[in-house]
Amino acid sequence: MAIDLLLGLQWGDEGKGKIVDVLTKKYDIIARFQGGPNAGHTLEFEGIKHVLHTIPSGIFHPKAINLVGNGVVIDPVIFKQELENLKPFDINVRESLLVSRKAHLILPTHRLLDAASEMAKGKAKIGSTLKGIGPTYMDKTGRNGIRIGDIELSTWKEKYALLRDKHLAMIDNLKVSLEFSIEDLEAAFFDAVAYLKAAVSFVDSEEYLRVAQQNKQHILAEGAQGSLLDIDFGTYPFVTSSNTTAAGACTGLGIAPNRIGEVFGIFKAYTTRVGSGPFPTELFDEVGETMGRVGHEFGATTGRARRCGWLDLVALKYAVEINGVTQLMMMKGDVLSGFDELKVCTAYTYQGKTIEHLPYSLNADEVTPQYTTLPGWKEDLTRMRNANELPKTFNEYVAFIEDFVQTPISIVSVGPDRSQTIFRSPE
Ligand code: GDP
Ligand code: IMO
Ligand code: MG
Repeated sequence: MAIDLLLGLQWGDEGKGKIVDVLTKKYDIIARFQGGPNAGHTLEFEGIKHVLHTIPSGIFHPKAINLVGNGVVIDPVIFKQELENLKPFDINVRESLLVSRKAHLILPTHRLLDAASEMAKGKAKIGSTLKGIGPTYMDKTGRNGIRIGDIELSTWKEKYALLRDKHLAMIDNLKVSLEFSIEDLEAAFFDAVAYLKAAVSFVDSEEYLRVAQQNKQHILAEGAQGSLLDIDFGTYPFVTSSNTTAAGACTGLGIAPNRIGEVFGIFKAYTTRVGSGPFPTELFDEVGETMGRVGHEFGATTGRARRCGWLDLVALKYAVEINGVTQLMMMKGDVLSGFDELKVCTAYTYQGKTIEHLPYSLNADEVTPQYTTLPGWKEDLTRMRNANELPKTFNEYVAFIEDFVQTPISIVSVGPDRSQTIFRSPE
């Protein structure tokens, strides 16, 4: 049975959590494959909004198994809080939530290192979520990391102490003023590790998925962040520290490339970015301000205001190609209601020439977007539930994108709630 992937195609926060929740009824297993608590995936149904950071977005479906794969990095303190938040919903997490023994642990000193390294960078800072993501993946690739499987061994605290001391020396070296109590941080960390051990099941996830595939189970891999934050293909160095693209699902779960089925690519009808880094179609005017206000564009993890701008089709096409997207899902079309005209970026002027691909650098002094203007729509989309209710100019906007990126848009989302989802092709 092929494994389907669901990925963000922009700079994250496209609405992945909502769509995974909508699609989960068709799947037996939902698996996160990279990232960590830098992610904030929002789900809304029955009047309640839920934000998940580490736990896959299928957790509210009683029959689904939710797996945190080997490619994910886990902060036990945040994981514990997420589990506590689930308590009122009567979910049997011991059975429905599995964690790979090969997933790496975020230590308190990884978080401190993240903060110290951002402080040391000054104006050049990445705008990290400060969850310790970069330092944890550095220790993973540097072969110093601590994995979930290690906490089942009696010797792991010695390994922990060695790594902590190394981190403390590194923080010292950065010569920034960072106040913390390592004793308090460690107390919360060890308490959360013990909680986690008792609350969820640790598994050899690649073997679990192999058997699941053999038993013809339906598996959906849930991406975090977005393609433009990919460590290799994003706007480096203003990226996260994992492969957010389709290839990351292979290494982050142990899936062979020839087992991948559908690749669902999620994008917003406009563009947002949180944190630093280039953003060619960013708007600094009333239009951008309106998108942010109507779209409630504040980070689900950090609460920071998201930068807003027009849809960048050059970047979207790049993401579609890098990932092999087979179906697109367009989110937040409702936020664009009311504009007379909408712009979409269809080429860049790069070093004086017109180009239609993503260049090496997207820096503002080198790249100017070239726009095509399309008519807007006035109708409120949020109450619409069927494709035949959608306004003509909205359909034209959708058709223009499909034509540009040569990929069908199978779902349009018209609000944050589960029910505000319109299937354009049969389910
Ligand atoms: P994720 O990280 O990709 O899961 O996305 P986030 O949860 O960080 O951000 C998406 C935000 O948009 C959340 O607040 C969602 O509730 C909201 N949202 C998702 N789809 C829609 C939509 O179609 N319309 C509107 N107005 N909001 C949406
Ligand atoms: P979801 O899964 C949006 C951004 C940060 C920063 C950069 C590096 O909710 O879409 P990191 O903490 O990873 O070192 O930060 O990446 N970033 C996200 N932006 N959505 C996310 O996740 C993000 N995860 C990281 O703002 O610019
Ligand atoms: Mg998010």
